Amino acid sequence: MINYKEFFQKEVLKVLEGKGFIVQDALISQSNRPDISDYQSNISLVLGKQRGLNPREIANSLAEDLSANGGLYSVRVDGPGFINFSLSNKILEDNSEIFSFCPSGRTIIIDYGGPNIAKALHVGHLRAAVIGESLKRIMREVGDRVIGDVHFGDWGTPIGMLISQLKKEGIDWRREMDIESISELYKRASLSFKEEEGFKEQARIATSELQAGNVEYMKLWQKFHDVSISEIKKIYERLDVNFDLWLGESDVNDILPEMFIDLQKKGLAVESEGAVIVRLNQLKGRDRAPFILRKTDGAYTYAATDLATIIQRVKDFNPDGILYVVDARQREHFEQVFEVARRAGYVREEVSLEHLGFGTVNGSDGKPFKTREGGVMNLVDLLSLAEEKARDLLPDFSEGVSEEELRKQAEQVAIGGIKYQDLKNNRISDYIFDTDNFTKTEGRTGAYIQYAIVRINSILSKAKEKGYNIARRVKISHGIERELMLTLERYPEFILRAYEIREPSEISEYAYILAQKFSSLYSELNILGEEDEEKRSSRLKILELTRDCLKKMLWLLGISSPERMLRKD
Ligand code: ARG
Repeated sequence: MINYKEFFQKEVLKVLEGKGFIVQDALISQSNRPDISDYQSNISLVLGKQRGLNPREIANSLAEDLSANGGLYSVRVDGPGFINFSLSNKILEDNSEIFSFCPSGRTIIIDYGGPNIAKALHVGHLRAAVIGESLKRIMREVGDRVIGDVHFGDWGTPIGMLISQLKKEGIDWRREMDIESISELYKRASLSFKEEEGFKEQARIATSELQAGNVEYMKLWQKFHDVSISEIKKIYERLDVNFDLWLGESDVNDILPEMFIDLQKKGLAVESEGAVIVRLNQLKGRDRAPFILRKTDGAYTYAATDLATIIQRVKDFNPDGILYVVDARQREHFEQVFEVARRAGYVREEVSLEHLGFGTVNGSDGKPFKTREGGVMNLVDLLSLAEEKARDLLPDFSEGVSEEELRKQAEQVAIGGIKYQDLKNNRISDYIFDTDNFTKTEGRTGAYIQYAIVRINSILSKAKEKGYNIARRVKISHGIERELMLTLERYPEFILRAYEIREPSEISEYAYILAQKFSSLYSELNILGEEDEEKRSSRLKILELTRDCLKKMLWLLGISSPERMLRKD
């Protein structure tokens, strides 16, 4: 199985070269006339225009040479000079399992959680988790060694705020604390921080004392940290999002002092009014605000920990790329961190540093998604809401199905629905969270694809009961079968594109197209009722291939496929 867009690209470039045309791109695209071809090239039209030649003549002469590659595909020229390619049925029929990629030898770190100590996860964190998890799986599939790091936000002013609030209220820190009491404490701390000038100062001092190693504060920090992490782990587990590293900002505290000395030696970091800063190069003739590493009160900034984390990652893994799946609004922050990391020589030139930004989740009013009461939507609450919706579509009771299984189904559909709704959009676009339709089996939903898998499974198991054979090799006997096989053939094209542009939406789109092709085959052709044994067994094979591919797509999106999906009638 190969990427046919690339294949035709190479074929055309080769014959063009033979004719003395040196071009970069043969302009291959998916055919917009699927009734007559699978792929097409518009190169003759472009060349004709550029060089004042007759495009139809160029196309004919290219087609003649291309036709020499008989057997694999056929070529024909249409219209003013489009070159149309159709793959032979034999090629499509040869496809008997999902393509797998070879190891690339690259190591990539992907930073995609970013939850913060003491703060409940909100819908913004959902996007980081869902997009990051999918990208990690896609990159692994394409052969990279990928290490996912949650990069816990655990070292900045919020911790100083918690400590100061505890002190203010005179609460004994040895007292039992759970996530609720910590987030309540944080809410009160935020109020104090906003309203009391003195408190702000105390929180800053507490933060820098913590970072300097104050023993009592360290114990407190440990407690906040442990309670938050264990709670956060539960949520990621529910979302089926898995990290390899559970590191955080605090893990680079030890290397911060050395980093400062080093940056000073290199003439990059300087003291300015009691703070430590790096002056950034002008951009388009304009001065930029300095990159602040350490504030006047001695506390390290978010920028400092991100810079130090690059040093740590390079030392531990010598990666070829470090990717950050973080809200698009942090673009400038990352541009600056990357610029300073490069100027300081903390990464080899070839290492790619990428901020993969994402847009906002909005409510139906187009504003950031809120609860009915107007507060920020907590991620846990959103998950529960989704599970309720999904449970509503299931029967209250079904003979021979345990309550446990119904609950599990609702969970799979709910999580799949949330993830698919997110991943069907481009990373960078904002989207409106639709609370009504995302668990339905119609439309572009996770459940639509899950349901296609369930239906195929049920056909295959009925076939087994009847003792029907599944062919080893497909034999195309109908146009719809051919379309489905051609779509299956496009798997490498989509996955490579998803990989290159770091876009899970390519995969969700592909899964949708494939599921739709299955639906038309299912509604138009007999499968179990097909009398001709050769046709039937080949069709069953097509279904099996489709099922495996759909499952793989869902897996790449981080979505699980239920065994069964019951529906209320
Ligand atoms: N904790 C941050 C936030 O909630 C996100 C961290 C993203 N990762 C990073 N290396 N800066 O905004």
